[in-house]
Amino acid sequence: MNNIPGDRIKELREILEQHNYNYYVLAQPKISDFEFDALMKELQALEAEHPEFADPYSPTQRVGSDLSKEFEQVTHRYPMLSLGNTYSEDEVRDFYERTARFLNESFELVAELKYDGTSISLLYEHGVLVRAVTRGDGTKGDDVTANVKTIRSIPLRLMGSGYPEVFEIRGEILLPWVEFERINKEREEQEEPLFANPRNAASGTLKLQNPVVVASRKLDAYFYYLLGEDLPFESHFENLEAARSWGFKVPSVIRKCTTPEDVFSYLNYWNKERKNLPVATDGVVLKVNSLKQQRNLGFTAKSPRWAISYKFQAERAATRLNSVSFQVGRTGAITPVANLEPVQLSGTVVRRASLHNADIIAGLDLYIGDQVFVEKGGEIIPKIVGVDTDSRPLLIGEKVRFITKCPECGTSLIRPEGEAAHYCPNETDCPPQIKGRIEHFVTRKAMNINIGPETIDDLYNAGYVKTSADLYVLKTSDLLRLERWAEKSAENFMKSVDTSKRVPFERVLFALGIRYVGETVAKKLAYAFQHIENLRQASIEQLMEVDEIGERIAQSVVAYFANPKNKELVARLRDSGVQMEISKESVAMRSNKLAGKSVVISGTFAKYSRDEYKHMIEQHGGKNVGSVSGKTDFILAGDNMGPAKLEKAAKLGVKILDEEAFLKLLEE
Ligand code: IVH
Repeated sequence: MNNIPGDRIKELREILEQHNYNYYVLAQPKISDFEFDALMKELQALEAEHPEFADPYSPTQRVGSDLSKEFEQVTHRYPMLSLGNTYSEDEVRDFYERTARFLNESFELVAELKYDGTSISLLYEHGVLVRAVTRGDGTKGDDVTANVKTIRSIPLRLMGSGYPEVFEIRGEILLPWVEFERINKEREEQEEPLFANPRNAASGTLKLQNPVVVASRKLDAYFYYLLGEDLPFESHFENLEAARSWGFKVPSVIRKCTTPEDVFSYLNYWNKERKNLPVATDGVVLKVNSLKQQRNLGFTAKSPRWAISYKFQAERAATRLNSVSFQVGRTGAITPVANLEPVQLSGTVVRRASLHNADIIAGLDLYIGDQVFVEKGGEIIPKIVGVDTDSRPLLIGEKVRFITKCPECGTSLIRPEGEAAHYCPNETDCPPQIKGRIEHFVTRKAMNINIGPETIDDLYNAGYVKTSADLYVLKTSDLLRLERWAEKSAENFMKSVDTSKRVPFERVLFALGIRYVGETVAKKLAYAFQHIENLRQASIEQLMEVDEIGERIAQSVVAYFANPKNKELVARLRDSGVQMEISKESVAMRSNKLAGKSVVISGTFAKYSRDEYKHMIEQHGGKNVGSVSGKTDFILAGDNMGPAKLEKAAKLGVKILDEEAFLKLLEE
């Protein structure tokens, strides 16, 4: 082991990057997760103690920072084009022959899988990742560097040698199937809407404002295209192999083909074998290998002439539409579901398919009894893609129409402007919505009451619980009258109800389930208004004065308290002893002393760590920013503040506070 911190930090970074590569790129871990974590912790601790060795490319930077910001738009150096699509072997042969005629010399094609995720362009300069940009509109994309850095298989610093000083590499960010399923399961438990497919999940994740959450979803990235003025080889295949040696995850399943038959055997093989891959694919991409030939072929307005994609056929089956039912979700959203004559599709029996919304139903022009085509694309829920109108008998059932009244409570449905879904607006009296609200109320991040959805169902059906407030008047004897309850479980439940009375106000506010009031917004509102009474009386304008509260949230809060049933619920919860004001401890920890102030932290400190100072600045309403500018209010300076920063501060006349002065300022 090394005793000089700078050296040990460097050593740890190298060791961790190598293990990272072994694990995430090669899928050949050489040490246990436990050993990896121990090394990571050691590095984190050393870096915290020695901020002078800070490095944005350190493996610790992959865990993400809490800094959230709007994404900056960046213009692509080379536009991100799409590919022409083909759907049959004939079209592939056409592409081959067209290319042969145009080039009038022998050529190689490279066959690759077409990964179904979200595309990304990475810029490397001098061997380090400087920027990651989404496709956007092809010309401009979002700078998502902070999020991309959390993807472990993407090298922050390149390995090996021979990479150009400046180059771009493009690839696909993917959410592996297992992760997709794990996240959806978690979302189901948290009553959040599910992702339809891994592609949506990947692009949604990449656009999250909080890199810590991004880091928690284990995205992966595969690379397939290099761009730059001095790439090492004059051929695509060899450049990709070079990129692999620099640490990128370049799929090993790429193949050189010289005849259409080579291509077809690749297509046929992967059409079946792709089911065994860890990530979603939706076709094959064919590219002319020689860069010189690529340049000769050039581009059409939208896509290169030297490449084409072949889309795999989604598996499809025909079956009879027996009926359509309409389900009411916990938020009141109505989902139309087709009940089908059971049919085999991609190895499972399909009985139901989503019909999405009223527009889709109208577009399909469906009748009960129709023969319909179901498809399982990247989605887990099969969908109806068409109707076999030719086989429609003369005596057909009724036309399928979207309902106008809630099937659970009879209330007229509404469709908010600009939304595709219909909702039942009867929030307080529609059974699935009532149950949904209680389920949200008891979740871990809200009141943390020990009870599951089935039990809530039982309690509701037995007439014991109609609102969250009823949980507080339940008696052990009530519970024991129901099935599934025993002395012990009833006791545990009563205990957790009692404990929930100590849950802080900010979480109670979240638990109420006011539309658009998630955890963070609840915290902001709780600190700003301190007491539920103040919040209840707040006007839209007053609400909007709170940092980050916009009109949509403000309106939702006002609407919530305008409903007498909600007012009654809050009053009953308060009478049961649930916290309806911010605690003294919570207030003591916070203030507005630094409200609106931008603070730069620089140098090394004796009393608290940099992170702790950052936290303090935020607790008191300020913002920790990275670099000194005219907008900086002051610099919190420790020892060894960099000379460049000092000079800049002096030039701009920015105040400098040392540790003592800063802590005194907070105590005042
Ligand atoms: S090459 C100019 N190769 O498909 C050619 N694209 O419609 C650049 N994709 O936006 C793309 N796998 O997101 C290429 N092996 C592969 C690919 C691939 C997936 C995506 C990519 C692109 C879209 C093209």
